[in-house]
Amino acid sequence: MQDVLNYIAEHHDQHLKNLADFLAIPSVSTDKQQVPDVAHCADWLADYLRGIGLNNVVTEATAGHPIVYGEWLEAGPDKPTVLFYGHYDVQPVDPIDLWTQPPFEPTIRDGKIYARGATDDKGQVFLHIAALESHLKTNGTLPVNVKVLIEGEEEIGSPNLTPFLEQHRERLACDTVVISDTAMYAPEMPSIGYGLRGLAYMEVTVQGPNRDLHSGSFGGAVANPANVLAAIITRLKDDFGRITVPGFYDDVLPLSEEERAEFARLPWSEEKYCAELNIPHSYGEFGYTTLERLWARPTLDVNGMWSGFTGEGAKTVLPAKASAKISMRLVPNQDWRDISEKFENYVRAIAPPTVQVEVTSHHGGNPVLTPVDSPGVQAAMRALEQAYGVKPYLKREGGSIPIVLTFQQILAAPVVLMGFGLETENLHSPDEHFDLSNFRRGIEATACFYAEL
Ligand code: BES
Ligand code: MN
Ligand code: MN
Repeated sequence: MQDVLNYIAEHHDQHLKNLADFLAIPSVSTDKQQVPDVAHCADWLADYLRGIGLNNVVTEATAGHPIVYGEWLEAGPDKPTVLFYGHYDVQPVDPIDLWTQPPFEPTIRDGKIYARGATDDKGQVFLHIAALESHLKTNGTLPVNVKVLIEGEEEIGSPNLTPFLEQHRERLACDTVVISDTAMYAPEMPSIGYGLRGLAYMEVTVQGPNRDLHSGSFGGAVANPANVLAAIITRLKDDFGRITVPGFYDDVLPLSEEERAEFARLPWSEEKYCAELNIPHSYGEFGYTTLERLWARPTLDVNGMWSGFTGEGAKTVLPAKASAKISMRLVPNQDWRDISEKFENYVRAIAPPTVQVEVTSHHGGNPVLTPVDSPGVQAAMRALEQAYGVKPYLKREGGSIPIVLTFQQILAAPVVLMGFGLETENLHSPDEHFDLSNFRRGIEATACFYAEL
């Protein structure tokens, strides 16, 4: 292993350069205009995987963006098989004016690399690839069989990955799935995740009159869609922070006393949390701590809303319509399709008869808990301790990776969530970045992980 670690140290600058090339490709999956960029990113990745010596590398076309796949099965049938999953697509860059440098011109400042996708998920994908490269270049082989699966549609809900898994069940068969697309508990506090929330993403449009109206000639006599939408949104949660959609909590697995005690043992400062975010106080469902609210309780948030006049100055207008994007984070055992339906029914039920309401579902994903006693988790624990010199924590995640439950169901393999990001690294926002010391230790830790397995 020492020679692999030496290779990693000697090639650090080269790996960083290659990561910068990867980050420079604007692979925004939700933007139809960027379809060729996403395809270019898949090709770049496939070339890189070929270059490090993986076999049978392909970019598989789907109904959406391509899936990149490659494998090394020469460790032998007596060795375990690991499937590494990640995503090469990234979130949109707006609001672009808030970036210190252009999002696809990777820049190193203060020991961090700044670019869209730096921490979510290109930096974390690339550290696995660098670890595999380091093994292959040092020993001509890998300590275990490895299948690499990197998709281009995670940020839009992985619509084409489930059919791919179903079709290639045998080709993708494995003993463990490993994913690095989550956050460490805190700086210098490496952790293994054992849960992800799910997501149900909706859009509501309130349609009023057939055109924008003068708010003096019509105001007071015609329902204002912006007011109506605001009123609907207000009714989605009560004063205790509980969601009022009927049946919303039916399938929620209550927190056990043991798990609450585990959460409470983690180092936590409410004060620091609020100070870092510059908020006067945290918020959430009555009766739960911040970590419980984040990891084990569902929630509902407006992600965007628009209506009427938003330009400079004032315009007296009664808008014809108003819309909002609203998403709900889900916890085991809620089902996103069931919740989406309950949401739609409730919004229709509370909408006043003065307007028309349209409710659509964008996408979703189910919540999941992953086993904490699998050989993969044990190996990841040892590997993180070797790279960071401290015992890793166990944590859950507030975010979602829709395909994880499907991996456990279709491949019947336990998933290991070995995250190297930090929650403060601005994923999905301006000035996204990735800590370079976690990049380096991530390469070491994942190289150890494959060896420990
Ligand atoms: N890597 C994130 C998920 C994540 C974020 C896990 C933070 C743990 C902590 C992933 O790329 C992501 O952003 N997922 C989306 C879901 C998707 C359906 C849009 C999310 O959580 O919003
Ligand atoms: Mn991600
Ligand atoms: Mn993301």
